[in-house]
Amino acid sequence: MSEKVFVFDTTLRDGEQVPGCQLNTIEKIEVARGLEDMGVDIIEAGFPISSPGDFNSVVEISKAVNNPTICALTRAVKKDIEVAAEALQYAKHKRIHTGIGTSYYHIVHKLNSNQDEIIKRAVDAVKYARKFVDDVEFYAEDAGRTENEYLAKVVEAVIAAGATVVNIPDTTGYCLPDEYGDKISFLVNNVSNIDKAIISTHCHNDLGMATANTLMGITHGARQVEVTINGLGERAGNTSLEEVVMTLKSHKDLPYHTDINSKKIHKISRLVSTLMRMPVQANKAIVGRNAFAHSSGIHQDGVLKKRENYEIIDPKDVGIKESSIVLTARSGRAALKHRLEVLGYKFNKEEIGEIYHRFLDLADKKKDIKDEDLKVLVGKAANEESPIKLELLQVVCGKSSVPMATVRLKINGDILSATASGNGPIDAAFSAVKQLVKRKVRLEEFLIQAITRGSDDLGKVHIQIENRGKMYYGFSANTDIITASVEAFIDAVAKII
Ligand code: KIV
Ligand code: ZN
Repeated sequence: MSEKVFVFDTTLRDGEQVPGCQLNTIEKIEVARGLEDMGVDIIEAGFPISSPGDFNSVVEISKAVNNPTICALTRAVKKDIEVAAEALQYAKHKRIHTGIGTSYYHIVHKLNSNQDEIIKRAVDAVKYARKFVDDVEFYAEDAGRTENEYLAKVVEAVIAAGATVVNIPDTTGYCLPDEYGDKISFLVNNVSNIDKAIISTHCHNDLGMATANTLMGITHGARQVEVTINGLGERAGNTSLEEVVMTLKSHKDLPYHTDINSKKIHKISRLVSTLMRMPVQANKAIVGRNAFAHSSGIHQDGVLKKRENYEIIDPKDVGIKESSIVLTARSGRAALKHRLEVLGYKFNKEEIGEIYHRFLDLADKKKDIKDEDLKVLVGKAANEESPIKLELLQVVCGKSSVPMATVRLKINGDILSATASGNGPIDAAFSAVKQLVKRKVRLEEFLIQAITRGSDDLGKVHIQIENRGKMYYGFSANTDIITASVEAFIDAVAKII
């Protein structure tokens, strides 16, 4: 039978310690609601003694959230514990998370103390916290660098004092996966009352091993994982929630599960990234922009044949609609054809071959080809078959001059020119085109869009015209917006002819 692993999210406490990632109370409530919606078991809402803002956030999150346990952090200090208890007064399920450093470094160089005194302070803190709440978690800070025998003594003492959860943080992210797994095993085998508490992992990512260490913790006996969205946290961050949850979900052979609704992962990842102004690195597992993007021809072809050829997770399982085929100079015809079909274009093999050449030309100049670029490529291919081609366009415009346009068109092989005036250069050019095509057309819609933000970028023009009660659509894109407009107009008019 699969065993449940409790998910303890500390995005709002350890994650929020990252410089520049501070949230206000309203933002924290939004994240907490998202965490609740996703099925997180415990939300570490803050460190109430640290500031009035943090205190207030714990109070408001306690009011706003119903299902998860709300946890507040403290040092092993009476005042911290009292303030945490007060901040948690409205929580439906409450937990105090208290603790102290247990490694040689922390005991000697930070706390100026000794091992016996640390055990006493740890026990006193847990006992004091139990006066306020039934659920007390104890953290042995820097447990990753604490020798196992001493750690076992501390853990046994705090469980005897009433701790319901014992947190074994690899505070500095130093442990190797085997080492961390052995540490948890050591506690399971050497702490006489270990069955009275849940063991929790809390791994930092300084050597990029937070997820591996957390998983080793689970396989060796931990049943709670402390994680953050997008792996945010001090320095290189904490274990990321999405990585642990999706590892347990993907490896059906592992007899563990969480109650997280993984389909909510993408949404909350974006929410946290936006609110904390912390972009997610593109190749971040599960939630990075490229996590479900395929760019090489071989991979694209494989994924299009069967998604599982190159994907171990269905993007829908994390709330992403579909994987993306990124078009670059490494892409093949299969990917190009697929994307064009998604955009609604169907071409035969020969046409695809022709478009593919243009595509490669462009892809060598531009890193990745967007849908808009493809539309332009396809538009150009179509224009070449058009019965009307724009050979020349000259306009006169500006302040104090009458807008004029001269247009030279090749219509079914004949070269024809016309000059017209208008209320602007585009209007003048449209009039000149109308004179040459000898068709009565009415402009129904005219939309100019910039593709990106630069003034040197392509402008897209969509046009709809009416002729004898029928609508015709035209499109073009050009860095010269007047040319793009005239080309789009001609594209539509050519469809009448
Ligand atoms: O990394 C750590 O040790 C912590 C504790 C306060 C739990 O964040
Ligand atoms: Zn931490």
